[in-house]
Amino acid sequence: MTTSLMINGEERSLTCDPRTPLVDVLRNELRLTGTRNVCREGYCGACSVHVDGKPMSSCLLPVGTLEGRDIVTIEGISQGDKLDVIQQAFIDLDVIQCGMCFPGMVMTLRPFLRDNPSPSRDAVKFALVGNVCRCTGYERIIDAVMSVVDATEVTE
Ligand code: FES
Ligand code: FES
Repeated sequence: MTTSLMINGEERSLTCDPRTPLVDVLRNELRLTGTRNVCREGYCGACSVHVDGKPMSSCLLPVGTLEGRDIVTIEGISQGDKLDVIQQAFIDLDVIQCGMCFPGMVMTLRPFLRDNPSPSRDAVKFALVGNVCRCTGYERIIDAVMSVVDATEVTE
């Protein structure tokens, strides 16, 4: 079956089983490998993408349900060489370790900061409750997020 998806502002036509999880199409067909494939059960948040502006686990989304929806992946949020402010903060504060969790964290945090431009530290922790990191202990991640809380560029 042919499915047409709008991904990062581009229409992509795919021939695949409509039950195929979006994460598999992104990584295996479209080579958008920034979206991580970890638990495949909706538990870890590593596969998060935006669907119509909301973070969702792409491992739980059959592509056949996504026609006409606006899908954005981690590759779609930087502008050329200019990284998203949250990505840049993770780099500047030297937060990243293995990096498996970070694309999903960024995809969760962008809409959160758009809707909550001045969150408390506890609110940021709560926002990340569905994003598992096995390396960092989270405190430095929260430090990085708090460093950009007032950034005006978080507008998506
Ligand atoms: S791979 Fe989708 S939530 Fe873990
Ligand atoms: S940096 Fe390794 S899982 Fe988060």
